Amino acid sequence: MNKKNKYILALLAVVILAGAAAYVILLLQNAEDKSNITMKNKLETIKLPEPRYESETSVEEALLARRSVRDYKSESLTLEEVSQILWAAQGITDKKGSRTAPSAGALYPLEVYAVVGNVDDFSEGVYKYKPQCHELVKVAEGDKRMELYNAALNQSAVKNAAVAVVFSAVYERTTEKYGERGERYVHLETGHAAQNVYLQAAVLDLGTVVIGAFDDSEVKKIMNMQDDEQPLYIMPVGRKK
Ligand SMILES: Cc1cc2nc3c(=O)[nH]c(=O)nc-3n(C[C@H](O)[C@H](O)[C@H](O)COP(=O)(O)O)c2cc1C
Repeated sequence: MNKKNKYILALLAVVILAGAAAYVILLLQNAEDKSNITMKNKLETIKLPEPRYESETSVEEALLARRSVRDYKSESLTLEEVSQILWAAQGITDKKGSRTAPSAGALYPLEVYAVVGNVDDFSEGVYKYKPQCHELVKVAEGDKRMELYNAALNQSAVKNAAVAVVFSAVYERTTEKYGERGERYVHLETGHAAQNVYLQAAVLDLGTVVIGAFDDSEVKKIMNMQDDEQPLYIMPVGRKK
């Protein structure tokens, strides 16, 4: 091999090696990015304890006990209690993905949030409930109960409850199929889900109340809701006084 060929070969080897090194660096960077996202998701996603499907209270007893309760002790709730309440609101109940509350066309326009203020071993913040995996995803940091209380026209139940469950709806999921009548369906569905929370609270001996009087845009802001979502109900939940 003459000197010129050796030179070309060496140059080629350097180019190939540099290319391979750049490729490996890119791969590593990509892997790091992906692991950050997973890491972030992992940090912000909390698997809830599995709900229980039995209790000592009959439906009739729960119906008898159901009452709007607005005064709560300043005691914490357990994560099991929060899990049970959220499952009652919109939990999955079969392999098809059906839920605890009926939904027109099974289109499920409702979203459920937990504004966490005082739950054992659980950080304050706003969490979105993911029914499919029975998980909570953090959407805002810090105790938002005071802000929510202000947005709910200073109704003290909101600031005193350990947790507030907030229902919102993406109307388009239902109106796309049913037109204007879909709006009615969304409201009816919110009633079904809220009654589930009332009855589950009665079984757990917790207090709750549906709150419909609040400033929509303020609640949307506090909860970090998306533009196409409208808040419909706030349900503070706490231990009865
Ligand atoms: C659509 C709707 C909106 C309501 N909004 C409020 C509210 O903003 N604040 C409140 O304290 N209670 C609110 N309530 C609860 C009612 O005051 C309560 O259901 C009523 O007094 C009957 O009491 P009970 O639920 O214990 O049977 C609302 C109830 C409904 C159905």
